[in-house]
Amino acid sequence: MTKIALVTGASSGIGQAAALGLAADGHAVVVADINEAGGRDTVRLLEAQGAQALFVRTDVTREEDCQFLVGRTLERFGRLDAAFNNAGIAGYALLLGDHTLAQWQRVLDVNLTGVFNCMRAEIAAMQDTGGAIVNTASIMGLVASPGGSAYCAAKHGVIGLTKAAALEYARHGIRVNAVCPGYIETPMTVGEETIFPQKKIAAAVDRVALRRMARPEEVAEMVVWLASERASYVTGSSFAVDGGVTASV
Ligand SMILES: NC(=O)c1ccc[n+]([C@@H]2O[C@H](COP(=O)([O-])OP(=O)(O)OC[C@H]3O[C@@H](n4cnc5c(N)ncnc54)[C@H](O)[C@@H]3O)[C@@H](O)[C@H]2O)c1
Repeated sequence: MTKIALVTGASSGIGQAAALGLAADGHAVVVADINEAGGRDTVRLLEAQGAQALFVRTDVTREEDCQFLVGRTLERFGRLDAAFNNAGIAGYALLLGDHTLAQWQRVLDVNLTGVFNCMRAEIAAMQDTGGAIVNTASIMGLVASPGGSAYCAAKHGVIGLTKAAALEYARHGIRVNAVCPGYIETPMTVGEETIFPQKKIAAAVDRVALRRMARPEEVAEMVVWLASERASYVTGSSFAVDGGVTASV
């Protein structure tokens, strides 16, 4: 039987790679993002792979968008088996005291409240059938670095939310886990749109045991596994895919 997955932030980067990975693992995929052009590209790639796919424009900061996303998924496919809550934005390279309240709130809204909004809708859809939820945290959910306190707080929050939800909904057969990427080559970190100075990225990669950034597909492998029955005894956990960064002091 075809399983049904939804992926937020699926227009590019890790989300797009995970959408393609989930399709290769037998899922029809609902692609959710604020970026419509990218979302339609992902749908084309999915269909070229022979998968069923649907794009639903979704701003994860809006509760009604997240409810609509899950509603459309149920309407089109009748069930929801797996959800990857991955939409996110880079934080500001600022000391805590230099953040404005609006900057802090923006990062928390997308990176933490966005996950909460999606999980509320997904859990309601999975209560009777069970399912698997994977949330994107970051190595910044496990450790910290100076100059990114809002992002770091949001990603630590995602891990806490993941653990609490795993405990609360285990009896409904819903597993909830988080993936913690290290330095991944996506539009967030490389290319024209990145806000990160490439010198800073190069310095960060120097501290990676494997001495390179990852491809988004390398994170997607973990997501696909966590979403599958192969991870049937795994819940409430967070998995670093970071080339060894967090293993080091
Ligand atoms: N790239 C890295 O090195 C890295 C490391 C750790 C964690 N992450 C996390 O991985 C996730 C994916 O990032 P990526 O690296 O693939 O970057 P990306 O910029 O390629 O993808 C992020 C996607 O999220 C979407 N998005 C942003 N705000 C949204 C909103 N309000 N509603 C819906 N969609 C929204 C964007 O349009 C984009 O398609 C993010 O949560 C990010 O924090 C990335």
